[in-house]
Amino acid sequence: MSYFCDNIDKLKGYEPGFQPKQLDVVKLNTNENPFEPSPKVIERLRNITTEQLRRYPDPIGNQFREAAGELNGVSAEHIMCCNGGDDLLNLAFRAFCDENRPAAYPVPTYSLYPVLAKIQNCPVIEIPFDREFNLPSKLVATNAPLTIVCNPNAPSGTFISVDEIASLADEISGVLLIDEAYCDYAEKNCAALVKDFDNVIILRSLSKGYSLAGLRFGYAIAQPELINGLMKVKDSYNVDAISIALATEAIKDQEYFKANIEKIKTERTRLTDELRNLGLKVPNSFSNFVFAESKDSSAARIFEELKKRNIFVRYFPYPGLENKLRISVGKPEQDDKLIDALKEILAA
Ligand SMILES: Cc1ncc(COP(=O)(O)O)c(C=O)c1O
Repeated sequence: MSYFCDNIDKLKGYEPGFQPKQLDVVKLNTNENPFEPSPKVIERLRNITTEQLRRYPDPIGNQFREAAGELNGVSAEHIMCCNGGDDLLNLAFRAFCDENRPAAYPVPTYSLYPVLAKIQNCPVIEIPFDREFNLPSKLVATNAPLTIVCNPNAPSGTFISVDEIASLADEISGVLLIDEAYCDYAEKNCAALVKDFDNVIILRSLSKGYSLAGLRFGYAIAQPELINGLMKVKDSYNVDAISIALATEAIKDQEYFKANIEKIKTERTRLTDELRNLGLKVPNSFSNFVFAESKDSSAARIFEELKKRNIFVRYFPYPGLENKLRISVGKPEQDDKLIDALKEILAA
């Protein structure tokens, strides 16, 4: 007999990418930013006071909301602080879905969505992408109370135009959550859509572009009515005092942020070219990872061989993804080690 609810008992929980204990490995498996966060963030960390630790934090992180509103051209009322982007996804499933209220999304995509759906006992409508990862037209007609589009998509790294997403927001009857965890690496984003559509929620993360995956901070942008509804569902103090202070500092330092993003984009182009030269098929990426397809060798074998050499990339053992590896863009020296190893493995 189990103590758990049936759905939790049957649930295969989300499997985060492997976090090796050793530091002297090439870690390209969880899309962390290989560069350090802004020095201003570190400075602020050093100046955290005991009083900030003794007291409860501002429950809604107004300091951050003001800064994020300014950055995105909206008022602070359009922003909600979250304990990582994952917190917002969890809140959305709890707020909009149940046994009779499905969630719809194109697949393959972020593998956390179906896990959160199962926790909520919520049916899912998974609509396959075509080979080019275009927005599936069938997504419009699902009638789902919650539709999620990950843009740029993970694990493909592909990008759907803002106009197409705007049309989707216009046509569906439910909420459209646009997961922009990787938008810092794309040329455009959908933030402006919240002005025209009362059903759009934008998800942002500080884990990637701001090099703060360890901090756990993300945020939502939406019209105040949606933000206020989501606030009812969140933990009373879902973000802590240190993370509010550091996240605010990070988004204020746009000069550092932009330089950090440019370094990744330059390296992404080089990595893509190198992988293509090795005979791998790599679509243009709009994120901080590339999705490489091997025509001849199995991705599982390449993954294992890389692992033996202490190089970690991500392999998803799911139908349709068998021949593909998701590789985070690393520092040039890390990517060089990957390329050298791949040359050896593919030649064998
Ligand atoms: C597509 C996507 N959305 C959201 C997240 C959540 O990011 P975080 O909770 O680190 O902000 C991730 C993390 O890897 C992701 O890949």
